[in-house]
Amino acid sequence: VASCGACTVHIDGEPARSCQTYIEDVEGAEITTIEAIGETKEGAALQQAWQELDVVQCGYCQSGQIMSAAGLLQENPKPSVEEIHEYMDGNACRCATYQRLRAGIQRASEIMEA
Ligand code: FES
Repeated sequence: VASCGACTVHIDGEPARSCQTYIEDVEGAEITTIEAIGETKEGAALQQAWQELDVVQCGYCQSGQIMSAAGLLQENPKPSVEEIHEYMDGNACRCATYQRLRAGIQRASEIMEA
């Protein structure tokens, strides 16, 4: 029901909730999942930042968090705290790692800039 964002993938480069996507609507589309996001500049920076800052708690939400964060950084490589909160609003974390998620996105932005 698109209530948590854990299933986020990229469809033609745009974050989308796979639980709300019908297969017939994505025929021929390029779909990127968490398994391949590390091949992008944003995904690689996020993975490095996530490891550096030990962002993950239980991990349930984390693939969706990274996929949404990659979409944010593709659109806005240097987001403000407010822009991070606004963009990531649809991704819930039941472990409440929100401060580490924000720090991870900020760190990924720094890595991309270096
Ligand atoms: Fe546990 Fe987010 S790390 S739900």
